[in-house]
Amino acid sequence: MQFRDDFLWGGATAANQFEGGFREGGKGLSTADVISNGTRKEPRKISLNMDPSLYYPSHQASDFYHHYKEDIALMGEMGFKVYRMSIAWTRIFPQGDEETPNEEGLLFYDHVFDELKRYGIEPMVTLSHYEMPLELTKKYNGWADRRVIDFFMKYCRVVFERYRDKVKYWLTFNEINSAMFAAGGYMGLGILNDQEKEQISLHDQKDIPDVRFQGLHHALLASAKAVKLGHEINPDFRIGCMLAMLVYYPYSCNPQDMIKSQQEWQKFNYYCGDVQVRGAYPSFSKRIWKEWGVQIRMEEGDEQILKEGTVDFISLSYYMSNCVSSDLTKECTEGNIVGGVKNPYLKTTDWGWQIDPDGLRYTLNEIYGRYNCPIIIVENGLGAYDQVEEDGTIHDPYRIEYLRDHIEAIGQALEDGVDVFGYTPWGCIDLVSSGTGEMKKRYGFVYVDADDYGNGSFARSRKDSFYWYKKVIASNGRDLD
Ligand code: BG6
Repeated sequence: MQFRDDFLWGGATAANQFEGGFREGGKGLSTADVISNGTRKEPRKISLNMDPSLYYPSHQASDFYHHYKEDIALMGEMGFKVYRMSIAWTRIFPQGDEETPNEEGLLFYDHVFDELKRYGIEPMVTLSHYEMPLELTKKYNGWADRRVIDFFMKYCRVVFERYRDKVKYWLTFNEINSAMFAAGGYMGLGILNDQEKEQISLHDQKDIPDVRFQGLHHALLASAKAVKLGHEINPDFRIGCMLAMLVYYPYSCNPQDMIKSQQEWQKFNYYCGDVQVRGAYPSFSKRIWKEWGVQIRMEEGDEQILKEGTVDFISLSYYMSNCVSSDLTKECTEGNIVGGVKNPYLKTTDWGWQIDPDGLRYTLNEIYGRYNCPIIIVENGLGAYDQVEEDGTIHDPYRIEYLRDHIEAIGQALEDGVDVFGYTPWGCIDLVSSGTGEMKKRYGFVYVDADDYGNGSFARSRKDSFYWYKKVIASNGRDLD
């Protein structure tokens, strides 16, 4: 296995799951700030007016807002070359549609980037990771309204100019393709069609496909415009898309299963990927629009915008794989964003996600084969329960095994000829789960002493995987033992 000498080893987080400080530094409320916690069985709830009887995990999250120096020092100790994080749009434009940005919010990220620089860690910044100013949802129904593109562009211009010499790598929207899935309307696009309700289950929002697809079109336009603007502001910027890899194997060699698998790949992965990497909607979009009964309203010039805003690289998340079957009676599993038919060859995590390192090699080959564009894996990891021993140690061999197998799979993909230039495991320091809002679903190399309700000291401790990952980085992926 030969990882390139400048391979970007690191870790990843997102503001709404990690930062906390939700009312500090002039920050406004984001769409994520009004989503309660949940469990594997009990879905999270959205309540625009915040129900005092519910707990909202983004408010404290892991309190990176107050711990960033300590956290970045830990990343430095592990030898990180890159740290993928997101900017909370609401720290910069608290309501989303103001004229001038919030200086205190901008300063916070200045401090973070300066601290990263001290340790030689390159930031990779997601502009929108499953959150946007709540006011934009209330006033415009999020991305459903084309005017939101201009608010987003204003935010992009401000951060691109401010951090012109501090940040080189940018990602536009986290898992933009999650909006292809009905419940992705609020998380991905800030679209909420039943705003009059006091509480709405995150899994059961009122879906209006026409509104959702139009909202996604606006976000895709905004992504393309951001790429173009970023390159104008600093030609050295490298700007990528971010796709959730929703991997669907045919359950059997029944040709119907094969067709179904192909269609899921097209719908979930290639619809957005083709727009962002190739610069145009793919031919099969017509079939997808027909299936959902939607019609995208394009304005003159939209096609040109998409064409001019193709990305420099692809970033992706990969956690698991699914199967599809034409036999609708087959047993199903849970999963990242969406589940699928159970694969009898795979084990599952404590949260029912199927563990499949070969699926990562397969996916990297598929994506690189289609797009011939450099890839970085910006999310991968095992959400698991961790136990703190009496002496304070945390033994997490299950996490090491998961990550080792996936790094080996990346090595195999490199041998297959895929250009992978980095790897940032998810939740490198424990954070709140996006799917369930729990803290006990932990991904980190570093343990954060906080429970599902924000009780705890928020002290950080190194897990066994911390020392292991440090070795992996120091040996550039050669020492995985
Ligand atoms: C990805 C998201 O889909 O999966 C992250 O980009 C999320 O925000 C991650 O945290 C893991 O999912 P979960 O539900 O375990 O937090």
